[in-house]
Amino acid sequence: MTNRDKTAKLIVGKKEIDLPVLSPSTGPDVIDIRRLYTDAGVFTYDPGFTSTASTESEITYINGGKGELLHRGYPIDQLAENSHYLEVCFLLLYGHLPNSSELDDFVNSVTIHTMLHEQMQFLFRGFRRDAHPMAIMVGVVGALSAFYHDSIDINDSWQRQVATIRMIAKMPTIAAMAFKYTIGQPFVYPRNDIDYASNFLRMCFAVPAEDYKENPVLSRAMDRIFILHADHEQNASTSTVRLASSSGANPFACIAAGIACLWGPAHGGANQACLEMLKKIGSVDKIPGYIKRAKDPGDPFRLMGFGHRVYKNFDPRAAVMKKSADEVLDLLGIDNNPALQVAKELEKQALEDDYFIEKKLFPNVDFYSGIILEAMGFPTSMFTPIFAVSRTVGWISQWKEMIQDPHLKIGRPRQLYKGETHRDYIDINQR
Ligand code: SDX
Repeated sequence: MTNRDKTAKLIVGKKEIDLPVLSPSTGPDVIDIRRLYTDAGVFTYDPGFTSTASTESEITYINGGKGELLHRGYPIDQLAENSHYLEVCFLLLYGHLPNSSELDDFVNSVTIHTMLHEQMQFLFRGFRRDAHPMAIMVGVVGALSAFYHDSIDINDSWQRQVATIRMIAKMPTIAAMAFKYTIGQPFVYPRNDIDYASNFLRMCFAVPAEDYKENPVLSRAMDRIFILHADHEQNASTSTVRLASSSGANPFACIAAGIACLWGPAHGGANQACLEMLKKIGSVDKIPGYIKRAKDPGDPFRLMGFGHRVYKNFDPRAAVMKKSADEVLDLLGIDNNPALQVAKELEKQALEDDYFIEKKLFPNVDFYSGIILEAMGFPTSMFTPIFAVSRTVGWISQWKEMIQDPHLKIGRPRQLYKGETHRDYIDINQR
């Protein structure tokens, strides 16, 4: 959306240039600097992209000051309460809530693509049993392009659609197989007669030795966790997928790049790091010491699950997750979960501390999710793979939006060069 009657005036040395200001449907205006280097011979400098819009998008909007998260305009708390993950997938992918026949068709398409090519199981067997499931997921997802050649041409809309469905359908199967492989249990095939979240839990926890009984409470909690992690504007892993895709690389390789980025403890790896931190703190009397460390600029320790680049009020997903943690633990009869007690007291003390107030640090989506996942029986190593399963639809939706952009250009940032200027080679005998 361009509002041509707005411009920003930039004076660089003796040059004065007018830059167009583009207006969004909501949120801050953006200064269009695409001609800046051509017209003024200068770059902008923004490591970490704290003030940079890398793209135009219609998928997800975050208002960090208000703690607002909208998916195609629908607030996350309403979707978490009233929708289910595959309906949210449809919304993110196609821009509207589906009617019943659209939803049935979409759910059926996903359901009948949940199995993996049988040959892929030998890929898993190449890993050590103590491999981190994220390492396996990066490898196996990247290898999908070696098995599904008929859906890697990004210029073919039908192949893009097939790749989209395959990714959403197969990611839970891959994550569950990675889990089973690392605990030495046999792989469990997906079933077509149960819902997406129940299928994932069944593939993770069923064993051939006995019948598996679904727990609707855990399935609903799992589905809600999938909804809460589905998409989040231009976060690090989504930006990685967009940059990788801008070269024309196939979607499976680009999603593998997103998984690799998500693994970092500053991003999706924080849910694992957060629960490990809560366990390390161990009891509420140890909290002040850890808060002191988190505030010490000389100490690299940070409160995992706290802080966010965009949310400077509260993360609306954390509020839903906290409520869900209480419900799940209550229904499972886990009333004295020490990690949850520590988490609640830590949140209370941190939010009353000037340091966290001044730096606007609040619990984020990762603060409570690990407590629910552990209560479901997952080891911490499976927390980020579950985040990756959910975020696949966000990565794919943003990828789809970018690939369909007629003005798509390869992403190629410039730099502020501070290295040596020109100098001639010196023969080794003169050094
Ligand atoms: C996710 O971008 C997304 O949308 C991500 C995500 C998504 O859905 O895709 O929401 C998912 O990644 C959530 C974030 C999970 N990460 C963590 O919980 C790890 C702990 N958090 C921090 O590492 C940090 O808060 C970040 C990485 C999340 C945000 O970092 P920023 O925006 O670059 O902020 P910063 O590091 O510049 O911090 C600002 C100040 C610093 O102090 P000063 O240098 O100004 O003195 O706040 C301090 C930081 O030291 N600070 C913290 C802190 N987080 C920031 N101090 C203690 N504990 C923390 N957790």
